[in-house]
This record gives sequence, C-alpha cells and structure tokens, in this order.
Amino acid sequence: MEPHKLSEISENEISELSSGLIATVANGASIGFLSGFTLSEAESYWHSVCSNLSDNLHLWVVKTEGKIVGTIQFERPTKKNGSVRGEIQKLFVDPAFRGRGIASKLVKLAEEYAFSIGISTLVLDTESGSNAEKLYTKLDWVKVGVIPGYALSPSGELKGTTYFYKQRP
Ligand SMILES: CC(C)(COP(=O)(O)OP(=O)(O)OC[C@H]1O[C@@H](n2cnc3c(N)ncnc32)[C@H](O)[C@@H]1OP(=O)(O)O)[C@@H](O)C(=O)NCCC(=O)NCCS
Repeated sequence: MEPHKLSEISENEISELSSGLIATVANGASIGFLSGFTLSEAESYWHSVCSNLSDNLHLWVVKTEGKIVGTIQFERPTKKNGSVRGEIQKLFVDPAFRGRGIASKLVKLAEEYAFSIGISTLVLDTESGSNAEKLYTKLDWVKVGVIPGYALSPSGELKGTTYFYKQRP
C-alpha cells in the first residue's frame, strides 16, 4: 500500500476516485463539495484535475488490490511571487482503510516531493475539530489559527477552518 504519483489518470482511476470522493462527502467530510454531489460532477472534477496535472498540480494515490483507497494533491500557485510555496489539498482515505497510516504516508510523500523541488513553505486548511486537524498536528504542521464560519459542511452547516503551515527542514 505504498503511494505513487500519477502523471495521468485512466478512466478506471477517474471512476474509483469519483466514487471515493462521493463517499467521503456523503460521510460529512469538508473537502470542497456539498452533499448531493453527483457522479457526473465528481467525474468532471477528476477530469479537470487530470487535464491540469503539470508542474503546478501533482497527484498521488494509494492502491490496494489494484483499487485506489487514498489520494492527495499538491498545488503550486501561478502567481510569480508565490513560487516558493504550495498547498496540500484534497486528501481522503476510503473509510474501510482508515486508521492504517495511509493518510500519514500520503502527506509525508507530498511534503517530501514539494521540499525536494524547492518549495520552502507548504500551507493547508481543514475543518476545525476534524480528524484531519489531528492528523496534521501529529505530523508537526504548525497551526496558524481558526477562521470561524469559513465554509459550509456538506450538509450546509457553517464550520470553522484551521490554517496550518510547514516549512522545509
Ligand atoms: C483524515 C483522514 C485523511 C485520515 O486518514 P487515515 O489514513 O485514517 O489517517 P492515519 O491512519 O494516517 O492517521 C494518522 C493520525 O491522524 C489522526 N487521526 C486519523 N483518524 C482519526 C480518528 N478517527 N480519530 C482521531 N484521530 C485520528 C491521529 O492522530 C492518527 O494517528 P494515530 O493513529 O497514531 O492516533 C481520513 O479520516 C479521511 O479521509 N477523512 C475524510 C476526508 C478529510 O477530512 N480529508 C482532509 C481534508 S483537509
């Protein structure tokens, strides 16, 4: 169950990532989408990720028995003065495979990659009080603070968001 980087996404992988994303949102995770998110919206999202994979957008997945069970992305801003930073985003693990260190491996790999290509500061945000917040704290990300009422949960409730950063060792 080692993560690997994808430079393109096959139709089969689009389909697995789409069902994983829908299940994650249906489970209440705040990952940019609201409940009721359809398969075709999820597929369009992954097709757009696929067409944007480049020096600025990187994607890793973990597979078990050939099926994707976890994923993460690292994105660099296009602003010229932002070339030293990047954002970790869209991390999720199939509920049946949680608690086995898969997210930790994905985050560490994305960090290592980003730092290896010259990024000096990584940022991310996550729902305050979520398991993801505990994960980033455990992985030594520095908590900047909370913005209350920053985003809607999938069911439409206003939730706070915690911002974190990590710098190249
Ligand atoms: C958050 C998430 C990615 C964690 O995935 P995972 O593979 O289970 O995480 P790991 O097994 O690597 O856990 C590492 C640490 O995270 C924290 N953590 C993860 N799940 C937790 C839980 N259910 N309860 C408490 N702490 C938890 C713990 O500190 C854990 O370390 P420990 O096992 O030594 O206690 C997963 O629950 C998920 O996909 N959630 C929905 C999507 C989401 O919130 N994504 C984040 C977007 S920013």
